[in-house]
Amino acid sequence: MSLPNPVITIDGPAASGKSSIARLVAQRLGYTYVNTGNMYRAVTWAVLQAGVDPHDADAVRTAAAANVVESPVVDGRTQVCVGGHALSDVELNSDPVNRAVSLVARVPEVRERLVADQRALGAIGPLVMEGRDIGSVVFPGSPHKIYVDASEEVRASRRSAQGHADQVAERDRIDKQRKASPLVIPEGATVIDNSHITLDQAVDQVIAALKLA
Ligand code: DC
Repeated sequence: MSLPNPVITIDGPAASGKSSIARLVAQRLGYTYVNTGNMYRAVTWAVLQAGVDPHDADAVRTAAAANVVESPVVDGRTQVCVGGHALSDVELNSDPVNRAVSLVARVPEVRERLVADQRALGAIGPLVMEGRDIGSVVFPGSPHKIYVDASEEVRASRRSAQGHADQVAERDRIDKQRKASPLVIPEGATVIDNSHITLDQAVDQVIAALKLA
């Protein structure tokens, strides 16, 4: 299936540096930046607002289906809104959302809905879309796939700088082991390890690896 617009897919684990890299790549190219983690975070926020236990997959499915998550583009990047409420970075990155998001993201029906929304964004224009399954599941036909990684040591120090070491390690474990589209290096992806290079150098490497017309 050919894509109407180029989509640069950027996948990788938590604390790998992929969000900073993806945002800058989008800025440099003038593409729209889509952070799909925020879409899973928005559903998680709605599930928690409904008082649902995130371990209860049936209740998560029901609460998620009752809430419409929208991703309007504002200033070159998608925002996330639930029931018309635009979620702030503080709401999206709260401790309860951090703790629950991988549990919500492993529910297949939640993924199906968000993957459909992510594919629909492909029609709006050229994108840089980052997440865990973008090159493997959402846009497997894209010729522009990047996987961002960093050594365990570097990721551990980034985690502790973020102040929630255990949560991030636990999220990685669930994200890699879940049945529905686990985190993998997508076929054909260029792997960029940014353990010992600067953010600007990582962005340069991503752009050099892409074969954009
Ligand atoms: O990118 P992030 O750390 O904000 O993502 C939060 C969680 O959302 C992550 O632990 C797993 C899930 N996620 C996913 O399953 N698939 C994606 N494409 C993006 C995120």
